[in-house]
Amino acid sequence: MKGIILAGGSGTRLDPLTRVVSKQLLPVYDKPMIYYPLSTLMLAGVREILVISTPTDLPDFRRLLGTGAELGLEITYAEQPSPDGLAQAFVIGADHIGDSASALVLGDNIFHGPGFSGMLHRSIEGLNSGDGCVLFGYPVRDPQRYGVGEADPQGRLISIEEKPAAPRSDRAITGLYLYDQQVVDIARSVHPSARGELEITDVNRVYMQQGSARLVDLGRGFAWLDTGTHESLLEAADYVRVLENRQGVRIACVEEVALRMGFIDADACHKLGERYGASGYDAYVMEVAATF
Ligand code: G1P
Repeated sequence: MKGIILAGGSGTRLDPLTRVVSKQLLPVYDKPMIYYPLSTLMLAGVREILVISTPTDLPDFRRLLGTGAELGLEITYAEQPSPDGLAQAFVIGADHIGDSASALVLGDNIFHGPGFSGMLHRSIEGLNSGDGCVLFGYPVRDPQRYGVGEADPQGRLISIEEKPAAPRSDRAITGLYLYDQQVVDIARSVHPSARGELEITDVNRVYMQQGSARLVDLGRGFAWLDTGTHESLLEAADYVRVLENRQGVRIACVEEVALRMGFIDADACHKLGERYGASGYDAYVMEVAATF
């Protein structure tokens, strides 16, 4: 399975924070935002990852993540010259995806919860046994801000709408999408919406009409955090800070994820810890390596 992290957009809702820094590089407590969606893909077992961002911001992502080799990954980069919609990721990423299944995660989406890795693996299994796409739904108070879906009792998606004024359910469709091999062709076939974007919701609707779209519920106790406003960005940082300080573990520590997923060994992990300054993150990475 190939992965894509879409980290484009102008982030104007976070101005002036995003005047000179990409939204997806802003701090969420102790690490850059993109570490969180990167961890999500790694937990799904995805190692070949394309990062898509604006021509201005792409060099910063490259500086942060490099080739990915140190984490046992292959990270490549592509430009999205203008924010023409999430589905454009599959047009830009067509060569990267080839004939594979793929996972798209939005660079500003933070997922955290028990059993997440197992849920991802079961969902990927689903792609091998008839599901065309797997979406993840999360109950929110303000569904009109998101894509909104409804499923039948078997988990088949039966309705999907983008930012509906009168939502048919409280299930927001989160920014993590798993697709079979058809997605590039489907993305190429959709037309720009009224707001001029290639909507991921239109791609998902094609799968729904095929009867092959699954909606998995991220239930109570799971965190899908918003980072779209000053307030929600600070709340996300607080969530991470509280859990990390209470439990003494770090969320979305990509070096730890690489080690636990078997992408790198303990020696390599230790070396990655050494390269950081004395921020505490360095000691954590080395400790994880020493006790693995
Ligand atoms: C996008 C999608 C929407 C999805 C959301 C998740 O919205 O269009 O369907 O629910 O991401 O973060 P946007 O962030 O572009 O408003």
